[in-house]
Amino acid sequence: MTDWQKSDWRKKPRVQMPDYLDANALKAVEDRLGSYPPLVFAGEARKLKSQLGAVSRGEAFLLQGGDCAESFAEFGADGIRDTFKVMLQMAMVLTYGAKVPVVKVGRMAGQMAKPRSAPTETIGGVELPSYRGDIINGFDFTPEARIPDPSRMEQAYLQAAATLNLLRAFSTGGYADVRKVHAWTLGFTSGPEAEKYREMAERIGDTLDFMEAAGIRDEATHTMQTVDFYTSHEALLLEYEEALTRVDSTSGKWLAGSGHMVWIGDRTRQPDGAHVEFCKGVQNPIGLKCGPSMTTGHLKSLMASLNPENEEGRLTLICRFGAGAVGEHLPRLVKAVEEEGAKVVWTCDAMHGNTIKSTTGYKTRPFESVLREVREFFGVHNAEGTVPGGVHFEMTGKDVTECTGGVRAVTDEDLSDRYHTACDPRLNASQSLELAFLVSEELSQRRTKIEAAQVG
Ligand code: PEP
Ligand code: CO
Repeated sequence: MTDWQKSDWRKKPRVQMPDYLDANALKAVEDRLGSYPPLVFAGEARKLKSQLGAVSRGEAFLLQGGDCAESFAEFGADGIRDTFKVMLQMAMVLTYGAKVPVVKVGRMAGQMAKPRSAPTETIGGVELPSYRGDIINGFDFTPEARIPDPSRMEQAYLQAAATLNLLRAFSTGGYADVRKVHAWTLGFTSGPEAEKYREMAERIGDTLDFMEAAGIRDEATHTMQTVDFYTSHEALLLEYEEALTRVDSTSGKWLAGSGHMVWIGDRTRQPDGAHVEFCKGVQNPIGLKCGPSMTTGHLKSLMASLNPENEEGRLTLICRFGAGAVGEHLPRLVKAVEEEGAKVVWTCDAMHGNTIKSTTGYKTRPFESVLREVREFFGVHNAEGTVPGGVHFEMTGKDVTECTGGVRAVTDEDLSDRYHTACDPRLNASQSLELAFLVSEELSQRRTKIEAAQVG
C-alpha cells in the first residue's frame, strides 16, 4: 500500500464523473484546493474508526443521516442546526432503547456529488445532461446550468468548511449538552412522537437529577456536555477528493481530508474502477453501498482490496435492497462475509431501494417501506446471529413533505406543499423521530432476547 498515490485512480476506468470542458480551469481549481487546509484530521477519522469497531462488535450503534444532496441554495445555519438537532434526538431515543452509545455520522459537509441512473433528462421534449449535484453542475433545467463547472468545487469546499465549523461549534459549545434534551423538544408542536419524546426526556432529566444529587455527575459532566459528530459523503468526484487528500504526519498514511468517512456508491463500486482505487489508499473509514446487483464474488474481492488487513471499523457495508428484497440478498452477503471471517459494520440504508413515483408525479418513498426494510434487516441479522450495526437515512430537520406516510400522514396530494430536495426525497423531522422510536424498539427487543439467551 505504501506505493499508492492519490492520483492512481486516474489510470482506472471511471464512471459517473463529469467531463470538464476547460482543462486549464480544472487544473487551476485543483491546485488551489490542494493548497487549502483539509477539513478533517486523521486523529478524528481514527477515532471514528475505533467507534465503528465497537459497532461491528455490537457494542455501539451507527446512525448515519442527512440530505441526499446538500445544495448551495438551501445552505444556511438553520438547516444545519435542524438536521443536527434531529440526529441528536434520534440518537437519544436509540441510546435509551439499545443501552449502547450511538455513533453519529452526518451526510453533511461534502455530500454534493450525485451518481445518476440516466446521463440525460428530458422535460417537454427537451433533452439535457442530468443534474449531478451542486459541486458539479446546476439544478436549473437550462443548457448553461447543466455544463460541469470546476469552480463549483471551490464553492462546495467553502460550504463544507462552514458547515463543519458550525457542527463543531454545536457539538462542543453547549448546544449538545444532554441537559438540553428538554429544550430540544421545543421545536415540536404536537403529535404522538413529540409526546413520546417529551416523556423520555423527562425520565432522562430525572436520572440526571438523581446523579447530581448523589454526586456522581461531575465525573461524567464532560461526556454529557459534548458529542462526537462526524461527517461523511460519497467520494464520487475524485478530482475534489484527490485535492484534499494529504499525508497524515503522525502515521505517515494518506487521509481523505474532505470528511471523516467516505463511501463508494452502488453505481461506482466496480472492483477495478477509479472509485475503489481511490478509497483503497486512504485510511478513513469506508462505506460500501450494497444493492441487489452486488454479487458475493464482487463483495469478497472488494473486501480484500478495501480492507486487506481486516481492520475493525474500516469497512461499513451499507445495504440498500428495498423492502421485500432483503431476505433474497442479505443472507447471501452475510454468508460471504462470514466465510471470509471479515470484520464489517452492517448497516441498513432503507431509502435507496424504496423510491417510487407518486400518483401526483413526485419521486417519493413510503414511510411504511422504509420501516419494513429496517425490520427485514434486523430479522435477517437476528436469524443469522450477526450484528445489525446501524441505520442510514436521507432525512432533514425541516418540515418537508417528500416521503409519504408517518403518524402525521403525508399523502400523495401533500407532496407538492413543501418538496424541497435537490435530489431524492427525505424523511422530515417527525418521520425521522418516529423511525428512531421504531428502531429503538427493535434494538431493545433484540437486547432482551440476547440477555435471556445468556441467562438460559
Ligand atoms: C445516495 O446515497 O445518495 C446514493 C446515490 O446511494 P446509492 O449509491 O446506494 O444508490
Ligand atoms: Co439519495
